[in-house]
Amino acid sequence: MSKNCKKAYITTPIYYVNDIPHIGHAYTTIIADTLAIYSRMAGLDTFFLTGTDEHGQKIEQAAKARGKLPKEYADEISARFKNLWDEFDITYDKFIRTTDEEHKIGVQKAFEKMHEKGDIYKDTYKGHYCISCEAFFTETQLLDGDYCPECGKETTIVEEESYFFKLSNYQDRLLEWYRENEKCILPRTRKNEVVRFVENGLEDLSITRTSFDWGVKLPKSINDPKHVMYVWLDALMNYLTALGYGTDEANMDYWPARVHLIGKDILRFHAIYWPAFLMSLDMPLPKHIAAHGWWTRNGEKMSKSKGNVINPKEVADAYGLENFRYFMLREVPFGGDGDFSQKALIDRINSDLGNDLGNLLNRLIGMSSKYSQGKISSQDVEKYYKKEIDEVEEHIAKLEPLLYDMQLHRYLEELWRPLSIANKAIDTYQPWVLMKEGKESEALALNGLIANILAKVAVMLHPVMPKTTDNIAHSLGFKIDNDSYTSLIINRELLDEFTIEKIPPLFPRIEEAVLQETKQEENKTDKEPKKNENKSDDKSGVNLITIDKFFETSIKIGTVTDAQEVPKSKKLLKLQVDLGEDKPRQIIAGIKEWYSPESLIDTQVCVVANLKPAKLMGMLSEGMILAAKDDEGLALIRPEKPKKAGTPVG
Ligand code: MSP
Repeated sequence: MSKNCKKAYITTPIYYVNDIPHIGHAYTTIIADTLAIYSRMAGLDTFFLTGTDEHGQKIEQAAKARGKLPKEYADEISARFKNLWDEFDITYDKFIRTTDEEHKIGVQKAFEKMHEKGDIYKDTYKGHYCISCEAFFTETQLLDGDYCPECGKETTIVEEESYFFKLSNYQDRLLEWYRENEKCILPRTRKNEVVRFVENGLEDLSITRTSFDWGVKLPKSINDPKHVMYVWLDALMNYLTALGYGTDEANMDYWPARVHLIGKDILRFHAIYWPAFLMSLDMPLPKHIAAHGWWTRNGEKMSKSKGNVINPKEVADAYGLENFRYFMLREVPFGGDGDFSQKALIDRINSDLGNDLGNLLNRLIGMSSKYSQGKISSQDVEKYYKKEIDEVEEHIAKLEPLLYDMQLHRYLEELWRPLSIANKAIDTYQPWVLMKEGKESEALALNGLIANILAKVAVMLHPVMPKTTDNIAHSLGFKIDNDSYTSLIINRELLDEFTIEKIPPLFPRIEEAVLQETKQEENKTDKEPKKNENKSDDKSGVNLITIDKFFETSIKIGTVTDAQEVPKSKKLLKLQVDLGEDKPRQIIAGIKEWYSPESLIDTQVCVVANLKPAKLMGMLSEGMILAAKDDEGLALIRPEKPKKAGTPVG
């Protein structure tokens, strides 16, 4: 984000109402909330929007499966999101629902305008549609002929009359926008992906459906009542209709958005379709689209069907809402994926929050009550501790640019440096020794240094931990607001004096994991651990198993004797792997994107040898090859030195 205008419009995606809120939703919302609080503290006129996305085939199906009307179902789930954000003290200014009347009017107005402009035409859509992602795909994009490249679920073939948006007309203007606005998509790696995608050519986009009903009807002027709008056109428009587009335009001067905060899975819609729609509407484009990564559980994507979804309310109740906020923002580099573990969360609370911050405040409370009845003056700070205070200012000055670049983990990392300076200063100068040596003014100035560092850190930590930092400020005798932000951060001043009040410890030490397993996991009877077995490991949230259990899996070294492509498959290779048995095993492996058949022959791999044989694309697979996959791709796990085929691993 850049700070060159007085208004700041910050948005989250609007959440589908086919699912109850989970940690991924909470993550997006908490980041946006942090930005909004910062923006207000920095004096910007801020409008923070969140809400729910309630139309489309997916929602219609979810409601039907529960024997409910779509609206009735949407009301229920939308309220769950709203309630959670209220319980989480999320400071949104508006909660929009795409079933709101004003929203529907705004979307229809937009459709009309694009149509008048000649950007919409009628034709027949024939192709593949993924209901789960509410997205269309061309044949070449599909996996193994039929499967959605985004979520892997089977797509359906759709052939119906449809209105199309001339997305192809906007290819050059989009590329120009990416080129001229270095930070329009953050982080940069994601921007490169988008640019490559657009450079490969854009097809026109089907923007209406006739095969279901649950959506915004086309404007009356079009006179085609069997069509409803494509859910992504409807949904993206929320960013404008929330400000009154097409109805009461009172808040339209918040546009363009300062930042649309989204997850990486919905970048294509926001970084390609949305700016193209806006260009068609002659509207300015958002300043930034910032895409964060995914929260996973034991390396797996969370989903209701896997039963590994983390309930953010349970985590916040168990560990403290603001500790949880700190953890989410500090633990994972923005844009990257992060695995949720209670161990990591506890470490952050005990170490960063408890040791570095909480203890520092306690030490200050103790020293100030002992040496100066809780009164601290900043009078001699610069005289004795200029070096320290200058260093602190250097770190503080780096913070805002990091926040505006969405480098939130770096922001918090940098914010902790002044705390180390403060803790180190106490250890180095030892105020109790100074007092003994009669250097009282140095000892008291040291308290002044610590109090000012804590005050500056509290201000800059405020957007992440609002109540905790209000407490710290209360204990130091000042208030966090635009005035203190301006003097302590912008003008780099010290507060003249502090009156310290003792408060209870802010971060009591946590000794062990509070949550055993998520409720959803407990409900999965087929996975229920036997008594005393599979106790939750507080290290990574993984279930602990005994060595015997591990040895139930037979992993063996195998030599690949033959490898061939599987016709019509983009992912699979058919391998023959020698495991030292009478004949090689046939293994079908999804590694074609990373390995050519020739490169595998005569190499060694690790094979899970006692898996039940399974059929993949009609072919028998008699084992599984071990591999590790991250953002950079997939790598096979191989023995470091050649081993006899069939050698057990373990
Ligand atoms: N309705 C659309 C958004 C329309 S915006 C005009 C949608 N909704 S969603 O509910 O499926 O997802 C909303 C957001 O939650 C997305 O940004 C998505 O990336 C985020 N997350 C959902 N699961 C997630 C994780 N496991 N981890 C992190 N965020 C993920 O998409």
